[in-house]
Amino acid sequence: MEAERSVLSVPGSRPELFEKAMRSEADIVFLDLEDSVPDAAKDRARQSVREALRELDWRGRPRVVRINPLDSPHWLDDLSAIVAGSEGAVDVLILPKANGPEDVTVVARVLDTMEARLRLDERIRIEAQIETARGLATVEAIAGASDRLRALVFGPGDYAASVAMPMTAIGTFDRWDEAYGGSRLDYPMQRMLVAARMWGLLAIDGPYADFRDAAGLRRAALRARALGYDGKWCIHPAQIAVVNEVFTPTDEEVSWARTVLQAYEEAAREGRGAAAIGATMIDAASLRMAERTLARARAAARPSGERERSGES
Ligand code: COA
Ligand code: MG
Repeated sequence: MEAERSVLSVPGSRPELFEKAMRSEADIVFLDLEDSVPDAAKDRARQSVREALRELDWRGRPRVVRINPLDSPHWLDDLSAIVAGSEGAVDVLILPKANGPEDVTVVARVLDTMEARLRLDERIRIEAQIETARGLATVEAIAGASDRLRALVFGPGDYAASVAMPMTAIGTFDRWDEAYGGSRLDYPMQRMLVAARMWGLLAIDGPYADFRDAAGLRRAALRARALGYDGKWCIHPAQIAVVNEVFTPTDEEVSWARTVLQAYEEAAREGRGAAAIGATMIDAASLRMAERTLARARAAARPSGERERSGES
């Protein structure tokens, strides 16, 4: 497993922010060509992003770009500029508003051709955003659409708009959460998580718009982490520390996982599959849970500068 706790979004039309983003503690940085870039600035943004792919120091991180969705007039120009135009100096593409498996396979097919022409040996990976009614309704098929996929990303703002859910600001809590009582995003977030795991993909939560509200961000990040998500998007550098912390297993979690491992091994040596730690029963399922925790802790401990380029995972 590779750490993808904090994922910082940077508008592709604001190259003055790129260097600052790379110097941050974000596990992943991506340059956006979609919703943070107005139509009139798409061309200029493509040029800035292409330069950043070739010249900027990404500090060991995979080079990630979000293209425009397939129902826009921009995505093919994005692929030409970003993939062919950079001679393949991109590792991961984020595909927003994935509306079905065919969206993924179309992009994958274009990449097949571009990679063959450029004679690239590393395949470009895809992360698909699940943020529409159609995307959620077909999420299991989307997740299995291509072996280029590495993550599914939940998009709370576009999802809310797509299903007509009232939401004051992207990913935040408001009076409608109180009116509902439970967690309104449980259903899409759970469903996307299961689809991601079904195909061995990372599951990433979307952004929290109120970038001065650290308590709200923590609450949203904890909700995602409690479900099993691997990380969360950040739209502002001030959000990175909170997100990294929430998605790193605590010392207490790690030490419990080690205790479980040890107790299980001792029991196994004595020929037993179940054992007690105090008054808590553990068995092979407990071992698998503990191994998950330890794998997550190991991934989190790898600083981004030492992390290898994606594509090999
Ligand atoms: N990446 C890198 N640097 C960023 C940044 C980002 N996403 N967001 C803010 N910064 C920088 C600012 O440039 C500023 O730098 P400075 O101290 O050198 O001047 C510093 O962080 C503090 O920024 P601040 O003044 O608090 O915010 P702002 O009002 O300039 O910007 C936003 C607020 C929301 C417009 C901006 O954070 C942003 O554009 N975020 C990304 C939005 C996005 O990508 N959306 C699409 C995906 S959901
Ligand atoms: Mg979106």
